[in-house]
Amino acid sequence: MHHDPLPPVSWPPALDALQAEVRRRTSLLPVIGIVLGSGLGGLADQLTDATAIPFGDLPGWPSATAPGHAGRLLLGRLSGVPVVALQGRFHLYEGHPVGLVVQPVLLMQRLGAPVVLLTNAAGGVDPAYGAGMLMLIRDHLNLTGVNPLIGPNDDTLGPRFPDMVDAWDPELRTVLRRAAAETGVAVEEGVYAQLLGPSFETPAEVRMLHGLGANAVGMSTVVEAITARWAGLRVAGVSLVTNPGAGITGAPLTHEEVLAAGEAAGPRMIALVRRFAEIVASS
Ligand code: HPA
Repeated sequence: MHHDPLPPVSWPPALDALQAEVRRRTSLLPVIGIVLGSGLGGLADQLTDATAIPFGDLPGWPSATAPGHAGRLLLGRLSGVPVVALQGRFHLYEGHPVGLVVQPVLLMQRLGAPVVLLTNAAGGVDPAYGAGMLMLIRDHLNLTGVNPLIGPNDDTLGPRFPDMVDAWDPELRTVLRRAAAETGVAVEEGVYAQLLGPSFETPAEVRMLHGLGANAVGMSTVVEAITARWAGLRVAGVSLVTNPGAGITGAPLTHEEVLAAGEAAGPRMIALVRRFAEIVASS
């Protein structure tokens, strides 16, 4: 299924080339890396002094991405804080090898960011979660059937058997809750399950996920978080619940409603991320 998995030992030369291409264009040293999920790309417009690099200009990166994803790497300032942002991301369901899907977070680390904030659009598995709700990620379920770290390891980058207790950094979750309180943005906290996609879940799968302890479900983020933790990055995450999970209301799920809910929640997400960046940079 996932043709060449691009194992960890193959990553350093790819990262060397990516880093060199970015550094040809900007010397900005980011303190946070931010991955912008479906419909959340509007945050990119908030960056000042931004250098925008289309994915296709970066060595080894395909230019095509999923609808709703612009496909650019940006380095700039958010509220004055130097950040690197990924507008769009690579998904397993596009057929990309998992080693490509996780390259952006490792590139963020190469560029100097010790912290990554992963955002996504998600379906609500918790019946109490309505469209537009924001969920801080406390923990995850990797239900993709793949792991980015399979294959020969590079022990200089990370350990063979990385620990995943507190993968979602407790201190950064406290920072996110504080940022939410200070900006008046309501947030819940829960467990995110990544499935392979691209089909949405069946109602039976959503009931299963609920039984497994998931609060939200989507098609990204977890493999990125595993890689980031392996490499020693501190990881935080926010899901935007764009729709109740399949079967909860009986309505069919569409990508259009996912994008529309992303647009609608954009200002709240921007306020939250902006404040998060300010607090992280000042601590
Ligand atoms: N399921 C999976 N991924 C999603 C959903 C969903 O209901 N909504 C947005 N992304």
